[in-house]
Amino acid sequence: MEDHKQLLFSKSYINGEWVSGSPENFDVLNPADGSLVTKISNGDGQTVSLAIDAAHTAFKPWSKKSAKDRSVIMQRWYSLIIENKEHIAKIMTLESGKPINESRGEVDYGASFIQWFAEEAKRLYGDIIPGYTADRRIMVIKQPIGVVGAITPWNFPLAMITRKVAPALAAGCTVVVRPSEETPLTALAIAHLAEKAGFPNGVFNVVAGTDAAAMGKVLCESPLVSKISFTGSTKVGQILSTQCVPTLKKLSLELGGNAPFIVFEDADIDAAIKGAIAGKFRFSGQTCVCVNRILVHEKIYELFTTKFVKAVSELRLGNGMREEVNIGPLINKKAINRVESFIQDAVKKGGKILIGGDKIDDHFFSPTVIGDATATMDFAKEEIFGPVAPIFKFSSDEEAIHLANDTIYGLASYFYTNDLKRSWKISEALEYGIVGINEGLISSEVAPFGGVKYSGSGREGSKYGIEDYIEIKYICIGNID
Ligand code: SIN
Repeated sequence: MEDHKQLLFSKSYINGEWVSGSPENFDVLNPADGSLVTKISNGDGQTVSLAIDAAHTAFKPWSKKSAKDRSVIMQRWYSLIIENKEHIAKIMTLESGKPINESRGEVDYGASFIQWFAEEAKRLYGDIIPGYTADRRIMVIKQPIGVVGAITPWNFPLAMITRKVAPALAAGCTVVVRPSEETPLTALAIAHLAEKAGFPNGVFNVVAGTDAAAMGKVLCESPLVSKISFTGSTKVGQILSTQCVPTLKKLSLELGGNAPFIVFEDADIDAAIKGAIAGKFRFSGQTCVCVNRILVHEKIYELFTTKFVKAVSELRLGNGMREEVNIGPLINKKAINRVESFIQDAVKKGGKILIGGDKIDDHFFSPTVIGDATATMDFAKEEIFGPVAPIFKFSSDEEAIHLANDTIYGLASYFYTNDLKRSWKISEALEYGIVGINEGLISSEVAPFGGVKYSGSGREGSKYGIEDYIEIKYICIGNID
């Protein structure tokens, strides 16, 4: 079972070569116990510049290839990732702590974007528009935007990369990826597979390094980079946006969330419990679309809460490498402390710990349910990013909508009801980019993913996801008669 080591790399991947950064290395640690997974050469701003130059040189020839040729290489990359699923999943669990079954799921999920956009590459149709005078013909063509900088988080070490780079590569762009310093190994493993798939040098580059601020700044400020796509916190998204102003760079931002999960009095409670468990505890609560606030109608509050607590008691906590585990460690000690402070704040303000509430050590926090949650508690406004489920009570549809929308964020939202009229009314009233009705898991390569308000802009995945990587060109042919 040591075969994953053939996919472990310790340098940045630039222009088809493994390149060292600064003389120091940095440690990639296993979140389950703090042990060393491997050491990596520390890329920095200069390393990012090298990668930008390579991507810039590679752009023209790559964009000139036929869509079909690009698609064939992408399909090979997809197949190689799927063939190496076990190895990649193991690397992912070692560096992120994600339970191994979820890591396998992420390999499928991440690879699906490559397969999807390999197909979409061939359907990037333009338009013919009726001319505005008799002797003119109007055409619209779509062209790749240029070099793309993809800045990606630790919580999906594969899928957040492929969701950005697959549409970019399909459109004919070249890419520089800056993965999180917590989880660079999955990114480097798929860079190796990209090379095997036949991407020309410089088309796909990965720079691993710890100085996120310096590396991000170089990407944002470079006149050779045409577009930045970022997934991460709202705070960092705001910094990157400011840095992109002087070059008027296009930006896609997938930022924080504060997902409400509303259970109406007519809901199928067992289905709602299943959805809430899946939507709350996926990767121990560390995703942007994880349920942040459970809002339950007062008539079913006791019943829902009792059943939900029982379901939480059945979750198995431990090292994600163990097959039976479904709640792994949190990413680092800072995350543990943050979760602990949410609980202390809630208890101080009258919240009741119904199960959990325990910091096991610097790596693990037990799955927790807080009853009698109120809008004054910190988690009503902030993203928890951990295994804590607060339950709020409401008494009317209007109150549920008000509570759900009472946040600066607008990424994912969920509700459970069997009433068709209510389904439409609530879907339209929720100020979110994504709505799950009677469903707690909504992510897929076929559907548009993205938020409104402080959750960002742009859509990833689906037929819409490629639009962020193209420019539209209007061509007018005159004097036709
Ligand atoms: C995220 O947490 O940013 C992405 C979640 C998903 O793709 O489901």
